[in-house]
Amino acid sequence: MQLDVFTLVPHAYSWLTEQRPVAAVLGTELDLRLFSYRDSTPLRAGQVDDEPYGGGAGMVLRVDVVAAALEAVYGARPDRRVVALSPQGRQLTQDVVEELAAEERLTLLSARYEGFDERIVEHLATDAISIGPYVLSNGDLPAMVLVDAIARRLPGALAAGSGEVESFSSELEGGLEYPQYTRPAEFRGWRVPDVLLSGDHARVDRWRKEHVR
Ligand SMILES: C[S@@+](CC[C@H](N)C(=O)[O-])C[C@H]1O[C@@H](n2cnc3c(N)ncnc32)[C@H](O)[C@@H]1O
Repeated sequence: MQLDVFTLVPHAYSWLTEQRPVAAVLGTELDLRLFSYRDSTPLRAGQVDDEPYGGGAGMVLRVDVVAAALEAVYGARPDRRVVALSPQGRQLTQDVVEELAAEERLTLLSARYEGFDERIVEHLATDAISIGPYVLSNGDLPAMVLVDAIARRLPGALAAGSGEVESFSSELEGGLEYPQYTRPAEFRGWRVPDVLLSGDHARVDRWRKEHVR
């Protein structure tokens, strides 16, 4: 998958790209490209935003700046879905992640300050996605959430078997994963359920099914 992110802070993504699962698929299943709006802005001195029409606090990311950034990379028309990260967008769920992870090419647009000029969302983006009903200071954390969630669905991102049975997966019928435990078997009197120590795989499977939340 080719996943492009347009941002004001491409360097902020270096942590993400050093971590699994992103690091595991970078250069093979995932071609992650980071673009700065400032590199293609038609305005002087790297300007990318402006005061809101109608007044009010904060600055708004300009439509001509985002159009120029997209054009510099894709020419007249992007050959892919372009997702604006926005609190007003469709709420992110595992189903949305699966849908986006199935794309061969995808673009994410991050904003900050007061957000996007609405014409970006209406005319330049194909989708708007919110990572939850709260406001963050920028779209880079939401973009990183999406990059991570998508990367772990790509082949080779996770150790064999570990991505199939987990919260929200069809194996758990969309439910939340059963409780997991590790050593010690007892700590401060808190015991791991005996069935998990029994070595009886059929009973363990039954117990886990019963404890999907
Ligand atoms: C401070 S927010 C803008 C908030 C906007 N003025 C409002 O009241 O809805 C700046 C940017 O952060 C990103 N952002 C903030 N919260 C988000 C969320 N829950 N989901 C996705 N993106 C978000 C978006 O790119 C947004 O344009």
